[in-house]
Formats: sequence, structure tokens, C-alpha cells
Amino acid sequence: MDKLLSELKAIEDKFKTRLDEISEKNDLEKLKIKLLGKKGEITAIMRNMGKLSNEDRPKLGQAANVTRQYIEKNIADKLEEILQAEEDRKIATETIDISLPGTKDEFGSRHPLAIMSKQICDVFIGLGYSIAEGPEVELDYYNFEMLRLPPGHPARDEQDTFYMDYDQGILLRSQTSPVQIRVMETQKPPIYIVCPGRVYRSDAVDATHSPIFHQIEGLAVDENLRMSDLVASLELFAIKLFGENTKIRLRPHHFPFTEPSCEVDISCWTCDGQDHECKTCQGEGYIEILGGGMVHPEVLENCGIDSKKYSGFAFGIGMERVTMAKFDVNDIRSFYENDLRFLKQFNL
Ligand code: DAH
Repeated sequence: MDKLLSELKAIEDKFKTRLDEISEKNDLEKLKIKLLGKKGEITAIMRNMGKLSNEDRPKLGQAANVTRQYIEKNIADKLEEILQAEEDRKIATETIDISLPGTKDEFGSRHPLAIMSKQICDVFIGLGYSIAEGPEVELDYYNFEMLRLPPGHPARDEQDTFYMDYDQGILLRSQTSPVQIRVMETQKPPIYIVCPGRVYRSDAVDATHSPIFHQIEGLAVDENLRMSDLVASLELFAIKLFGENTKIRLRPHHFPFTEPSCEVDISCWTCDGQDHECKTCQGEGYIEILGGGMVHPEVLENCGIDSKKYSGFAFGIGMERVTMAKFDVNDIRSFYENDLRFLKQFNL
């Protein structure tokens, strides 16, 4: 018994010197296993329990527990010490060089087309219109047929269309006008909507053409709407967007879905028709921005709207054209190239 107790004492003494030598977490763990583990030194002493008298057994148990607790406590303290030392070392070595240039967060800005689209929509929202949307993958039925452009109609050629599935009549919409039909099919007059959106035509890319571009469609259907209402609405739109002195000019035109139809120009805000060499209007004095007219009665009837009771006007604004003119952009490709030097200029 005495031998066992003095062995315990020896383990304890040796532990103290071993502990002082340790400065790594791993070594500490190894020492713990060596002493307290299943095959450890303390466990080995406890194996002798069976050989002891009833009297001595609890004494050894008690003594072993005291040693175990002592070791556990000291190991825990040492661990804390090691971790703290590690932390101190980190703080001492990891200095921050405040003279290094920082990393700057880049802020995005609205795309010029989005800026214009919002400004235009806001004008019409102010007049009581709401925003409508339609799919970009559209049916021939909505994009053409319901707008009085049956298969074989020559005006289809002007809108060289991308077909997803020609036989099934699935295409990428070539105009936002199909949204007119979708709205009239599902809503009853009075209807006042604007629809901003992307449209597709198989055009070759150059400074003024892109196979993807944007339009804003407008549609009003109500009792007693007349051409003068269209003119007044567009006049207000022109003034709000391009300034107090802006004038609009209507030229007769033909669209299958409006009758009568017109193209609408606005007076040049750069030269107001005074400069024959003006870059904005190419000396024209006016800039074409949209097509419009009175909704053809057949289109209303196609959608189940009584054309005797209701009339409507519609218009389609070419977003790229308006935005290019407004911001003095001379190549449509700039809108799609994502060159930050270009885009940053519109950080309004
Ligand atoms: N959808 C026509 C186009 O892309 C533009 C247009 C003309 C829209 C007259 C209209 C309209 O709503 O009434 O060329």
C-alpha cells in the first residue's frame, strides 16, 4: 500500500516538472493521455486495488482521485495559459498597416435606359396609368394576329422576327403591343396602362440598331376617348421629360392596329429647330420618338370590348432612341457593352 501511495506521489512530482517543460497544446494532450488515459499511469496503479485489504482500498481510491483532480486542474490551467500566449503572440505580430490603400466598395448605378424608363413611366403614373407586363416569349397570336397582322401580312416583314418554334407560332415579341391584347382580354375598361419592356428583332447590329431593344407601350380605353386625348397626353409627356418649351408634331402613318395612326416627333431640345448642323436632330428640328393612334375597333372587338361604347388610343415609345437623344449617346451598342466608364456617367 505504502509503495502504491509513494508511486502516486512520484507521478505527481514528475508531472509538475513535465508540465513546466510543455508549451504546445499537442504535448499537453499527450501528457494527459499518458497519465489519465485508459492505459495511463494512474489507471495502472488503480489496477492494484483488487490486491489490497478492505481497509486500504478506499484510501488508495481517495488518494488516486486527489492526484487525478490535481492533474486535471493543472492541465486545464496550463491549456488556458497556452491559448492566452498564442493570442498575445498573434496580437503582437499581426499589425495593421494603416498606410495600405483600402479596398473600395463599388456602387452600381442605374442604367441610362432604366433611368429613362422610370421617368417616362412616372409621368404616366402621375396621369393615373398603371404598369402592365407581358412575356418576352410570346405567341404569334398576340404579337401579330390579334393586332390585325395575319400570316402573310406585309408589315410582318418590317419586324423581322425571331421564332422559337415557327410551326407552333412561338416567338420573341417584336413589339410591346401584344401586352395591349393581354390586358384588354382580362380587364374591363376603363383601362390606362403603360408597359415598359424588352423586344427583339433580327436586325444587324450597327450604331442605331440592336436585335434587342426596349419599348414603352401605352394604352387607354374608355368612353369618349379621342385623338385629341392622345395628343394632349403625349404633349404633357414631352413637356415633363424634355422641358417646358417642347412641341410635338404628328405625321400620318399606318399601323394595322390603330386607325388613324401617326408617328410623333418632338422638337429638338438642343437647337429647337434653329441649328441646321445640330448633332442631336441632324438639322431636322424634330426627333421621332414614337408611333401611336386610335385603337382599331376590330382590335377592341377581338378582345371582347364593345367598340360602339368604348374607344382607345395607344402608343409605343422607342426607348433607345429617346435615351440616346436625351443623353447624347451616339452609338446604341454603348447600352449593352457594360463598360463601366460609360455607365458611371449616368450616376444621377
Ligand atoms: N408596335 C409599334 C412598333 O413597334 C409601335 C406602335 C405604334 C405601338 C402604334 C402602338 C401604336 O401602340 O399605337 O413599331
